Amino acid sequence: MLGSVVVSSEEIDGMIRRLASEIEADLEGRSPVFIGVLKGCVFFLTDLTRRIRHSLEIDFIQVSSYGASTTSSGSVVLVKDITVDVRDRDVYLVEDIVDTGTTLTDVIRLIEARHPRSIQVVSLLSKPSRRQVDVEIAFLGTEIEDLFVVGYGLDYAELYRNVPEIHVLETP
Ligand code: IMP
Repeated sequence: MLGSVVVSSEEIDGMIRRLASEIEADLEGRSPVFIGVLKGCVFFLTDLTRRIRHSLEIDFIQVSSYGASTTSSGSVVLVKDITVDVRDRDVYLVEDIVDTGTTLTDVIRLIEARHPRSIQVVSLLSKPSRRQVDVEIAFLGTEIEDLFVVGYGLDYAELYRNVPEIHVLETP
């Protein structure tokens, strides 16, 4: 069940405004493709890109991990691939949260194989204390503690994604 609010709707909105202006400043002269990592990215990607006044393309990728605690780099299965040709394009990879960093590392590897000009990570949340693989986050909303959080796209067993703010998940 939902516990206390970790990031309010107002805070999310403020972060998105800041990130959109940081990214806009970075977009000068670029040919950007925003690739969302499904499903957690959906609300973040749509709210973020609506605030960016620059021509851009949007695509999605979905991966699933082989499973829980044994997850390590190279362990993801591609569930849905991108359809845009990213060769020589500037990719902004949009994630909801970076936890251990393994998912993102694998997704970056999959996209790098298609020879983009650049790849930069945009993430709403990061749990640095959980990191196992070093990942550079070029544009970050905020760091959080080692808590399992849900809402604003983040799920527990596919539930709570539609909750407008981010809560800690409490087990009854
Ligand atoms: P990583 O590979 O450990 O960095 O995990 C990244 C993925 O795990 C995220 O894209 C989320 O789908 C999921 N995840 C990690 N932490 C949380 C959390 O606190 N709440 C919900 N999902 C999470």
